[in-house]
Amino acid sequence: MQYRELKAFPADFLWGASSSAYQVEGAWNEDGKGPSVIDALGYYPPGTSDYTVASDHYHRFAEDVALFAELGLKAYRFSIAWTRIIPDGDGEVNPAGVAFYHRLIDALVAAGITPIATMYHFDLPAALDAKGGWQNRECVDAFAKFAEVIFGEYGDKVKHWLTINEQNMMVLYGEAIGTVKPGQPKSALYQANHHMMLAQAKANLLCHELVPDGLIGPAPNIALCYPETCHPLDVLAADDFNAIRNWLYLDMAVEGRYNSVAWAYLEETGAAPQIAQGDLELLASVRPDFIAFNYYATHTVARPRSDGQDVATGGDQQIAVGEKGIYAGASNPFLPHTEFGWEIDPIGFRNTFRALWDRYHLPLLVTENGLGAFDKLEDGQVHDSYRIDYLRDHIAQIQLAVSDGVDVMGYCPWSAIDLVSTHQGVSKRYGFIYVRRDEFDLLDLARFKKDSFHWYAKVIATSGADLS
Ligand code: BG6
Repeated sequence: MQYRELKAFPADFLWGASSSAYQVEGAWNEDGKGPSVIDALGYYPPGTSDYTVASDHYHRFAEDVALFAELGLKAYRFSIAWTRIIPDGDGEVNPAGVAFYHRLIDALVAAGITPIATMYHFDLPAALDAKGGWQNRECVDAFAKFAEVIFGEYGDKVKHWLTINEQNMMVLYGEAIGTVKPGQPKSALYQANHHMMLAQAKANLLCHELVPDGLIGPAPNIALCYPETCHPLDVLAADDFNAIRNWLYLDMAVEGRYNSVAWAYLEETGAAPQIAQGDLELLASVRPDFIAFNYYATHTVARPRSDGQDVATGGDQQIAVGEKGIYAGASNPFLPHTEFGWEIDPIGFRNTFRALWDRYHLPLLVTENGLGAFDKLEDGQVHDSYRIDYLRDHIAQIQLAVSDGVDVMGYCPWSAIDLVSTHQGVSKRYGFIYVRRDEFDLLDLARFKKDSFHWYAKVIATSGADLS
């Protein structure tokens, strides 16, 4: 539907930007920090940069926050490294790690920027991983203990909390992201998933108990799945994939129940988790205050191929590969691609907003959206008009969603500043701020404002009225 007049963005709209601890901070073993599963990988995958220095935000956060303030950010979404707070995941608290996030949060608050904290963004403590990670039920209580510490420390200053970043991608594409060792059976992944659901539920209860006026929500990667054609079996395959990729996570987080199609799929494929007494009651007892979601593009899938060739190689967060006998990955001929092969679908953003709003009726916060590209620094400038185009088209669709009646709280594109990609190195850049380093040569790590920085500053200053 087109509108003669669009609704304005809400006055308190959180115009923001995002990052995650392991991708931006560096200082991987400083001030008592323990190793995470990501640190344990070293260079990952071989041939790309490591995370030991990343963008050196740990040492340069004050300079970075000053740039965020100049950008005009109303909000900054970052993650707290569990291994800085509790180096081995469930033992002693590390005061130096706790102090770092106090410094960061204080700097944000002083700059008038609302902190939005992700509790866990892919970087599980390596010591917990050695004990089986999320497959071990003890991890649930370790997370609850971590939650108690950070709510107690930061709860008077941080009111917006996200539980687990992209739990669905860790289950579906954990090997690509680096959070799962190759060859894990599906049953183990879904047992881990069940435990993460429990951990999330406990965090929700603790947040509501310990953080005055605290708001908490899940942060999966949600993107609508389209059928390749209008053949009823393609539509069914898309419905199945929507259940497996999206609704399994949100029906549980919001309504405290396993999505029935997803559960049938888990039973059918021998991957249904063991559910202990009391689990379902705990899961049903919580309700988030909002839904945060990351959106890059929709997916297109088809019915299983008659030749059985349903599974392609090379999938990641945004490239559906298919699953034998369930659905086949397909591409959408109407969509362009990024340099890294991800489809670009701004209208799919609005479709996804509508689906989420219709289904859950909770306020929606976009915690990632953006374009990874090979930016070039020339004479201190980065002319990233392609990123501006991408962001403009997506922000325009948010305004359409707002006009559709969807309650949108804010928009935090990925990423505030250049950082290390999950599996494609520092050459795949997303930031408004360029960080001068190469894949293996750290250079001087100096910061430069890209063209998109100046453009987004204007968008924020006009609250989205000027997207030109
Ligand atoms: C999301 C993650 O999957 O996408 C981020 O939450 C990630 O951590 C972002 O960086 C972009 O993906 P990539 O693989 O290009 O870094």
